[in-house]
Amino acid sequence: MDKSGKKNRREFLFTASYTVGAVGLGATIWPFIDQMNPDSSVKALATTEVDISQIEPGKAITVLWRGKPVFVKRRTPEEIADAKKVKLESLKHPEKDEDRVKKEEWLVMLGICTHLGCVPLSNKGEYNGWFCPCHGSHYDTSGRIRKGPAPTNMEVPKYEFVDNNTIKIG
Ligand code: FES
Repeated sequence: MDKSGKKNRREFLFTASYTVGAVGLGATIWPFIDQMNPDSSVKALATTEVDISQIEPGKAITVLWRGKPVFVKRRTPEEIADAKKVKLESLKHPEKDEDRVKKEEWLVMLGICTHLGCVPLSNKGEYNGWFCPCHGSHYDTSGRIRKGPAPTNMEVPKYEFVDNNTIKIG
């Protein structure tokens, strides 16, 4: 393996182990926070505004909303076309792409694998969407489950566009 190949593998292993560690912690904390009577600092996070103006086409960012990761992905025309051409009957959890987005260029969803709650990796997997390294779930460019043990698509939270450069989650 060449030098750059080794580096990539190290980065991947770091990402995968970090993801597992973070989720192990998150899985125990998220339900606990939900049960607490929220103080003002938690209430302030009930909605999160995100500046999306710096996100390049094809890139995704992860923001925290109520302690959960949310993916905001700016899709390329090819990724949108891939998401739209899928036949609903071929999906484990049939949802049209247009029912999962408000503007087709932007996909906003909880970055939590619906199998056991790991955080999937963006722009990875057999469908060029997301890949969950914990047990091998592949999601497409609409965040729909296409292969692997996850039972449902990644969840789209309540959000709205405040203006062309800002979304408000929650
Ligand atoms: S938690 Fe993602 S595949 Fe199991």
